[in-house]
Formats: sequence, structure tokens, C-alpha cells
Amino acid sequence: MNYQVIIPAAGSGKRMGAGYNKLLMNLAGRPIILHTLDVFETDPNCSRIILVIHSADEPFFTEIKSRYTKIYIVYGGNERQYSVFNGLKAAEAEGIILVHDGARPFIRPETISRLVQSARECGAAIAAVPVKDTIKKVIDLEVIETVDRSSLWQVQTPQAFRFSVLESAHEQAQKEQYLGTDEASLVEKIGHTVKIVESDYDNIKLTTPEDLYFAEAIIKKRNR
Ligand code: C5P
Repeated sequence: MNYQVIIPAAGSGKRMGAGYNKLLMNLAGRPIILHTLDVFETDPNCSRIILVIHSADEPFFTEIKSRYTKIYIVYGGNERQYSVFNGLKAAEAEGIILVHDGARPFIRPETISRLVQSARECGAAIAAVPVKDTIKKVIDLEVIETVDRSSLWQVQTPQAFRFSVLESAHEQAQKEQYLGTDEASLVEKIGHTVKIVESDYDNIKLTTPEDLYFAEAIIKKRNR
């Protein structure tokens, strides 16, 4: 079951505090983004990787591009959603398309397959895990409410869509100037059903410095 993937990698990684794109930081001796790219490069069902980059990182990505056969590079926007939209314009307008953050290097091929299958059936499917912690709504450091967590899921990427569904959702969001934190929220806005595919708690997004410790531990455990 073939699919294409858009990998937004054009962020600044401010919360990581490295002073440069966090995806170029080392994880187990290699830049984080290479761990992510390898998952898709080695998946025979992935036909094209649309890698969305910031122009400041062009020298790095030009250098590594020759090591990959599926990468097509485009430039990002100043919000993640605009970066993905730019990626979408470079995609083949058919089939299943995934969006996967460059900052999530631990996605399992088996989860990708289940997402592609679900998107083929339903049009939109996202990786997620049940919320483990107690969640409270807080305003000005005062608890307003304890939210019932039995129906809460923590959403990850990949998010998988029929191309036409993701395209309509992005076009509508552009028209309404709606900015979402993920693709599924745009798809929900156009009234399309979004299905959950249960993922793994170790499919973490590397966002803040302590995530690098967790990431090293995940790599060690997987290599054991
Ligand atoms: O900052 P955060 O980790 O939530 O960003 C998620 C992904 O989106 C990262 O891989 C980042 O490089 C990418 N991004 C982007 N364009 C932006 C902002 C973020 O491609 N303007």
C-alpha cells in the first residue's frame, strides 16, 4: 500500500534552546532528522519523502540529500501548518499522504502500515495514545476543573489522509485563516471523520532538552 510522506523540518526548535534547528542535533551520534528519514527511506511502501526545510539549513540538507533516493526538498513557512501546506503543493495529487514531524524519530513501521490502511478506509487516521495523567483545566494557576480523562487521547504524528481530504482541509483553513496545531484539526473543521490508530508511548516528539535523555534511553532499549 503505497503512500507519500510530508516531513515538516523547518522549525527553529526554540523550546530545545540549542540556538539552531534541533533536528540537526545529535542523537546516538547522528542528527535527529536522519533517524526519522531512515524510517521512511527504508519502508518499501513509501514512494516519496517531501522534506520541508528552512533556507538557513540548506547546506546541511543539500549534503545529506545524495544519501537518500526518495527525498524531494521544499521550503517551509513561518508556522508549521504553512510548512505542511508548502509540502502538499509538491506532492502527487492522489492516494494516501502522511504528515510526520521530523522531531519524532521513533515511529514504528507497523504503526505506519495501520495508519495507511485506516486512511484508505476512512479518509483520515491519526496516531495517538490514551492520556495517562490526570488533566486539569487551569486559569491563572487556579484549578477550574478536573477533566474526565477516559475519553482523552494524546495525539502524535504520523497523521494519514486521502490526498483529496487533506488538500480540501488545508485550502479551507487558508481561506478562513484558521491555524491548527495539527492536520487533523483542519480535517475536523471540514466535517470529515478522523479515526484513531493506537500508537506507542515511545513515539515521542523531541521538544525540550530532557527529551534527549528519553530518546537516548529508547535507542539503547531498542538496540538491546
Ligand atoms: O516545534 P515542534 O517540534 O512542535 O514542530 C513540529 C515539527 O514541525 C518539527 O519537525 C519542526 O521542524 C516543524 N516545523 C516546520 N515549520 C515551522 C515550525 C515547525 O516545519 N514553521
